[in-house]
Amino acid sequence: MTIPLLLIVYALGLSIAVARAGYRSGGARTSDAPLPSPTRVLIVGATGGTGRRLVEQALERGFRVTALVRHPSKLQVEHQRLTVIKGDVLDAVSLDAAMQGQEAVLSALGHKRYFYPNRILSEGTRNVLRAMGTHGARRFVCMSSLGIGDSAGRMGLYYTLLVIPLILPFYFWDKARQERAVAGSTLDWTIVRPGALTNGSKRGSVQHGGHVGSFIWTVSVPRADVAAFMIDQLASSAYLRTAVGVA
Ligand SMILES: NC(=O)c1ccc[n+]([C@@H]2O[C@H](COP(=O)([O-])OP(=O)(O)OC[C@H]3O[C@@H](n4cnc5c(N)ncnc54)[C@H](OP(=O)(O)O)[C@@H]3O)[C@@H](O)[C@H]2O)c1
Repeated sequence: MTIPLLLIVYALGLSIAVARAGYRSGGARTSDAPLPSPTRVLIVGATGGTGRRLVEQALERGFRVTALVRHPSKLQVEHQRLTVIKGDVLDAVSLDAAMQGQEAVLSALGHKRYFYPNRILSEGTRNVLRAMGTHGARRFVCMSSLGIGDSAGRMGLYYTLLVIPLILPFYFWDKARQERAVAGSTLDWTIVRPGALTNGSKRGSVQHGGHVGSFIWTVSVPRADVAAFMIDQLASSAYLRTAVGVA
């Protein structure tokens, strides 16, 4: 009886810590006015599950796309409007090269180094923000997760009591710092917080807002729909300088 009780206390403590460390007061639509649509977009995390869909869909929608990738052979997309730059978000030089001429950045940065403390998400995102400031790119749409900031608990009980405390505590802590870094910038940012990601086919619409997710059940969303929603945000001020849940 003591171990489950300790786990619950630890899990709730972690949820509170991640709620306080992440961005809060998100979710309310801020405006319905369109933003000028960028034409040149840098995609960070482009070889990942969501990143690849971002690349494909952004190309389909007519953007000039630059993909910053660590391993170009993993991308497997060729297109006349696609430029691939080999680099790393932890390396300012490659980021600088990738940011030249960009108007907007879509980030689907993630990693699998769950089991030790690191700052890949927060430090990498700070570097992206710095490079955006230097090169005059203003629109930043950054993927985070339900469960952070004022969406704490909204990944459902399975994640809140088991997955986050046992597998993802360091990852979620760094994600909370990543959100803070984004929210602290003066750029035109939007934090997108999806539920559990699937590789299912695109459904064409998502639920979005500040009250998305469930404190009991795990809500999910196809990566393809998250990518479409993120691209939609480029020319929308609906969630400008706030965080939005997507499921
Ligand atoms: N899985 C879920 O259910 C879930 C739910 C909510 C939110 N999220 C979040 O959504 C985001 C996207 O998830 P995903 O599963 O689609 O992504 P993913 O497949 O894990 O891909 C992550 C991407 O980030 C890149 N990356 C990692 N470290 C990098 C570095 N130092 N420099 C440059 N690029 C780097 C990876 O490159 P390589 O290919 O070279 O490794 C990869 O392209 C993540 O932040 C994730 O935590 C996930």
